[in-house]
Amino acid sequence: MNNMKNSFAIRETKPQDFTSVKKLLSRAKMGSTLTKATFERTLIRNGGLCLVAKDGKRIVGTIFGFDDVLTLHLSKLTIDEAYRGHGIGKLLINELINRTKTRNAGISRIFLHVRKNNKAAMHLYKSLGFEVNKENCLMDLQLKRK
Ligand SMILES: CC(C)(COP(=O)(O)OP(=O)(O)OC[C@H]1O[C@@H](n2cnc3c(N)ncnc32)[C@H](O)[C@@H]1OP(=O)(O)O)[C@@H](O)C(=O)NCCC(=O)NCCS
Repeated sequence: MNNMKNSFAIRETKPQDFTSVKKLLSRAKMGSTLTKATFERTLIRNGGLCLVAKDGKRIVGTIFGFDDVLTLHLSKLTIDEAYRGHGIGKLLINELINRTKTRNAGISRIFLHVRKNNKAAMHLYKSLGFEVNKENCLMDLQLKRK
């Protein structure tokens, strides 16, 4: 986008951000099944580690984090298509890491899952020092609902 200013505000995600965040995730095919109830539960459980980036009043990026005993997990990093390539993804991850360090001094590792063919995300994570861990593999199980 032309004439884009390069200062974006980052703040904790609030329940009232649901519609904007869901729109962002759905457009990126990362959250079309997200319900308001799940969103709100996630914010309560992971308070302080779910962030949005804003350009004025517009939400232009989102990330979800949760910490367990020693590990921070990152997921659903998504930037509005019109705002990609302006450093917002990097900004959100760095902010989340800083907040995690302040909140939980025990965290010593960060995990995330990324598709190998997602060039933009792979580049972003590698530029921040993430490495592909060859000893681990991702396992998943689709839950069947009645
Ligand atoms: C992946 C994504 C979050 C990147 O966000 P972004 O705000 O555009 O990234 P940034 O501007 O912070 O860029 C960070 C780095 O990645 C690089 N990068 C960004 N997009 C890139 C692309 N399409 N191809 C190659 N490199 C790219 C930047 O050049 C920058 O590298 P540098 O620091 O060495 O200069 C964004 O493209 C997106 O929302 N994609 C759809 C959802 C998604 O795939 N999320 C990741 C799930 S794991």
